[in-house]
Formats: sequence, C-alpha cells, structure tokens
Amino acid sequence: MALLIVDKNKCRRDGICAGKCPGLIIQLPEGGFPEIKPGMDAACIECGHCVAVCPHAALSHQKIRIENSPEILEELKISMRQAEQFLRSRRSIRVYQQKPVDRNTIKRLIEVARCAPTAGNRQLVEWLVLTDASKIKKIAGLTVDWVRQIAKDPQVAAASPYLTMMLAEWDAGFDTVLRNAPVIVVASAPAEAMNGLGDVTLALSYLDLMAPAMGLGTCWAGLLHGAMLNVPSIREVVGIPANHPHHYPIMLGYSEAKYYRVPERKAPKIVFA
Ligand SMILES: Cc1cc2nc3c(=O)[nH]c(=O)nc-3n(C[C@H](O)[C@H](O)[C@H](O)COP(=O)(O)O)c2cc1C
Repeated sequence: MALLIVDKNKCRRDGICAGKCPGLIIQLPEGGFPEIKPGMDAACIECGHCVAVCPHAALSHQKIRIENSPEILEELKISMRQAEQFLRSRRSIRVYQQKPVDRNTIKRLIEVARCAPTAGNRQLVEWLVLTDASKIKKIAGLTVDWVRQIAKDPQVAAASPYLTMMLAEWDAGFDTVLRNAPVIVVASAPAEAMNGLGDVTLALSYLDLMAPAMGLGTCWAGLLHGAMLNVPSIREVVGIPANHPHHYPIMLGYSEAKYYRVPERKAPKIVFA
C-alpha cells in the first residue's frame, strides 16, 4: 500500500511536499503525482511534514492522516510580545493547593507534551502519573534518606548548603523534596531511544510550558531524579520500567502563589563566530 495518499483533485503538483521532505524521499514524476521513491518507504520517519506543508490539503499519509492533523489557525497565533511574556513568566511552583488535578486535565497536558520533538521522530517517551499522596510521601522520604547519606560527606555538605537546609526543613515537617505536590509526572524513555534524556527533557519542557495555560504549576524534581539515578530501589518504588534508563520527574498541581513580575536573569554569554 502506498504511504502517500494524494487527492488528485486538490494536488497542484507544485512539488512543495517533495522539496520539504527531510529525507528527500518524495518524488514528483513527470506528469504524475507525488510518491515515495521506490524502495524508500522504510526511510520515512513519519514526521508528517508532507501533510503539514501542503497548502491545498491534498496529501495524507498512511500513518499521519490529514483528518488527524488539524489546520494551523491564524487567529490562534501569538505575537512575539505575548510569547516573550509567556515564556519569561513561567515559574517553578513550590507551594501547591491541596486540590487534586483531574485525570482528563492531566491527559490533555500530556497530549500536548507528547508533541515535543524527539530525535529521529522516534516518539518513545512514556508517562507515569503518581497521584497517591502516601506513595508520593514515601518517595520523598526515600529521597531524603539518600540526601542524608550524601550530605555526610563534608565536601558535599560544604558545596551544597541547600542540602543541609532542606534536611533541616524536612525534619521540621516540610516536604522539601516534592513540596506536597498532588501529582508527580515522570517521563521516561527506553535504552533504544537515540537521545533518551534529551527527548524526556524536551517533552517535560513542553509540559512545563503548557501547564500555566491550564491554570497549573510545575517544578522539576531534581532531588528525586538524583535519588532515582543513584538508588535503583527508588526507581522501582516510583515504578519506572526496568528498561527505561532515561527518566525525569516533575511536580504538578495548582499553584498557591501568583506572580506579578518577571525576575531578572544573567545576561546571556553569546559568541558570534
Ligand atoms: C533540571 C532541574 C531540576 C530542578 N530541581 C529542583 C528541585 O529538586 N527542587 C526545587 O525546589 N527546584 C528545582 N528546580 C527549579 C530551579 O531551582 C528553578 O528552575 C530555578 O531556580 C529558576 O526559577 P524558575 O524556574 O522559577 O524560573 C529544578 C530545575 C531544573 C531545570
């Protein structure tokens, strides 16, 4: 079965799809319609650029159907100022309302996050959503146990005063690891992912950026990630598939805080060469 499905009434044979195919595997035969070059089906990475770039909606693909590829709406495009404020005003949220996030909301968020780019368009990132408060507390406690171990090294303690502080706060009853977040989302990828941690990080960045648009807040859970990397049993308690060496957890919930300003950041070091 041909990979490309061409609507011959709509196709203008302008060659746009062939010119924009990243693998250059589409040809436009003399007097014919676009098609995958003979023997090149396996080289298609199913990125859907051919479907997305056709201005005449003339092209579909066996795996990327035009009916599942919504039109880009001009009226939904955001201005540069809107984009800049949106990106710069995202904050890490460390105080959450004790209010659950409903499953459909989490699913909608992940639906967007799964559209982040992946190396070779492999799309191997998987999602684990933890909402059981007692399990989240247990995982935070196991992370604290690991932090206590590494903080025994005077060099580590001296280099990271934050660790001493977070242990003291934990002992005083504050969850300084997972911040009592009602949800922990863990994105993970199997060993065969070409750029596993990169793909996971990009997917979570999409989730991180989409969350505020849905009234939600996030915070990357770096301490838990450190514990998961160093203590395999914590990975098991979290529930990461055994063949997923790439993973990162992020906290999610409704923010208790509202922010009014965009804080200053270091000036970027840029080299034009
Ligand atoms: C990879 C990564 C891991 C992080 N881990 C933690 C963490 O374990 N606990 C925490 O409170 N914040 C964590 N953060 C949040 C950073 O401290 C935060 O991004 C930084 O202070 C800038 O603040 P902003 O995100 O509000 O702009 C992490 C951020 C990143 C990118």
